[in-house]
Amino acid sequence: MATENNLEGCGVEKLATILAIGTTNPPNCFYQFDYPDFYFRVTKSKHMTQLKDKFRRICERSTIKKRCMYLTEAMLKENPNLTIYKAPSFDIRQEILVTEVPKLGMEAALKAIKEWGQPISKITHLIFCTSSGIDMPSADHKLAKLIGLKPSVQRFMIYNQGCFGGASALRLAKDLAENNASARVLIVCSEITVASFQPPSNTHLDILIGSAIFADGAAALIVGSNPIASINERPLFQIVSASQTFIPESDDMLIGKVREMGIEYYMSRDLPKYIANNIVQCMAEAFTPFGITEWENLFYVVHPGGAAILKGIEEKLGLNKEKLKASWHVLSEYGNMRSPTVIFVLNEMRKMSMLEGKATTGTGLEWGVLFGFGQGLTVETIVLRSIATNTAP
Ligand SMILES: CC(C)(COP(=O)(O)OP(=O)(O)OC[C@H]1O[C@@H](n2cnc3c(N)ncnc32)[C@H](O)[C@@H]1OP(=O)(O)O)[C@@H](O)C(=O)NCCC(=O)NCCS
Repeated sequence: MATENNLEGCGVEKLATILAIGTTNPPNCFYQFDYPDFYFRVTKSKHMTQLKDKFRRICERSTIKKRCMYLTEAMLKENPNLTIYKAPSFDIRQEILVTEVPKLGMEAALKAIKEWGQPISKITHLIFCTSSGIDMPSADHKLAKLIGLKPSVQRFMIYNQGCFGGASALRLAKDLAENNASARVLIVCSEITVASFQPPSNTHLDILIGSAIFADGAAALIVGSNPIASINERPLFQIVSASQTFIPESDDMLIGKVREMGIEYYMSRDLPKYIANNIVQCMAEAFTPFGITEWENLFYVVHPGGAAILKGIEEKLGLNKEKLKASWHVLSEYGNMRSPTVIFVLNEMRKMSMLEGKATTGTGLEWGVLFGFGQGLTVETIVLRSIATNTAP
């Protein structure tokens, strides 16, 4: 197992730490069991009985129990173009997203700031991440005003990075925290599926996959180095290393086209296989510098992009189902919310560890890995160290 010596050269004393986590969802939620009836009713597609049966099978195989979504039946009735395949509807989708995405992000941000327990004026940097809508001034500016960040807060906007955006934000926050004295970075990831809500289509079956797994949510983190114990700053995890790579020849595995009809997703059946086939190499590249080669001794914070992705990783790394418990839980309770999802998993990991009386925030283990996946196919790999639960918030 790794020792402090393996951390030489990474400046262990100034490693970025996660100081607080906040998550939220819109109040409107659906049970997955009921969703096929709702979806085919509101899109006036009840006559597509074979497609509905297929959709029901996908919903069952998804292992998702519940998802929350901003869109309600009343909103869809008010905006019928949202329910007609390829109907121009970009403007109405944009109008909703540019207002609601920062607002949902605000709820998560305020929860994280409350847990951190410090004045908002101490936030020096803001990273806002979304693939839901695009606007000028952008969502980071709107959020800064909504929560009253100081005008000189240093803002970064991560647009359209899909499901791996949450992990990209962590990678950027690590750099900011470790290279700017006293930096306190607020990360906000907020996603609402209004852009990608599309009716079922016999000519584009991938729509069924997105409609069965995507959901809405927001998550926020406070990241900073050298936590100050005297003012009660208590870290949850250390961010030891962070890297991004893309898988060769996988560009067409996941594509999102922004069109007049909103976002149209293309998802290959082979996507889970591509991730699984490359996961060992990602692990080796991330952990070799620390002398770690035993995957079962780590804790796992994996983006639950879909059930087949989690299963593929378990198989390739030889992990039992308990190892990805936090990911399976988030997939089941919230679905795939894209960028905030992996932060929900991180939150679940520390809550689960506390509830089960484990010695560290990483289910009693010291070292762990956080994975983000998305178009590209891009893999974000973050090496984490847990904190003793008797010192964590
Ligand atoms: C969607 C998913 C939950 C289905 O589970 P599964 O174990 O693969 O289930 P099955 O193989 O029985 O597939 C169910 C049906 O969906 C269809 N299907 C699966 N993946 C599909 C895809 N990408 N596009 C179109 N249809 C697809 C299958 O053909 C099957 O249809 P059938 O019942 O008519 O034969 C699973 O494939 C998954 O998690 N995929 C990854 C989703 C993804 O790309 N996420 C975004 C990445 S960040």
